[in-house]
Amino acid sequence: MSESVNVSVIYYSATGTVHALARAAVEGAEKAGAQVRLRRVPETAPQEVISLRQEWVRHLADTADVELAGHDDLEWADAVLFGTPTRFGNPASQLRVFMESTGPLWFQGRLAGKVYSAFTASSTAHGGQESTLLALGNTFYHWGGIIVPPGYTDPIQFQSGNPYGTSHVSDTGAPGEVQLQAARHQARRAVEVAAALKEGRTAA
Ligand SMILES: Cc1cc2nc3c(=O)[nH]c(=O)nc-3n(C[C@H](O)[C@H](O)[C@H](O)COP(=O)(O)O)c2cc1C
Repeated sequence: MSESVNVSVIYYSATGTVHALARAAVEGAEKAGAQVRLRRVPETAPQEVISLRQEWVRHLADTADVELAGHDDLEWADAVLFGTPTRFGNPASQLRVFMESTGPLWFQGRLAGKVYSAFTASSTAHGGQESTLLALGNTFYHWGGIIVPPGYTDPIQFQSGNPYGTSHVSDTGAPGEVQLQAARHQARRAVEVAAALKEGRTAA
């Protein structure tokens, strides 16, 4: 059913947590039969700030071969999953810079009608995961997107516990199997909804 669905997983990650969730989302979408692009947004932090944290320097080097996100990755996609760390209760500015570069696409209505979904990580459980995911949703509304949250649509959601989008508390370590499975489920659901929309539009 999902062969013809295109999915872009577009993320920012400084120290690898969100990158791990993004890779799981790619797995979930591919397993659901979609064509998938994994894309990172450009780093915008000054080198002197990055250099203060070895894990940040290391992660940037480790992911240098991940292609940078471009507007074509949005236009091509039927579904886009965005991943970002929580930064003071909001999406990272690196991801916002990319999103705010899309004005011309938005103006032409070329971001409308696509499926959007989002995932995040924060240091602490009450550090703002939901406010980050809801903030991304504000932009999806403006784009005329179809927001597809995971809700409690799979048993894994009762373990991961965030119906707004996959999220991980990084103070506990790297994402474990529950969060990775939740990210796979979220991506699969996005593919299924995008496939149904596509079928409906073709039939109409
Ligand atoms: C500038 C900055 C702001 C942050 N703000 C928050 C926050 O509001 N709440 C929180 O729990 N963690 C916050 N964090 C921690 C990150 O969200 C957390 O380490 C996340 O897992 C990083 O993801 P990454 O490894 O993909 O970069 C912040 C980190 C930085 C550098």
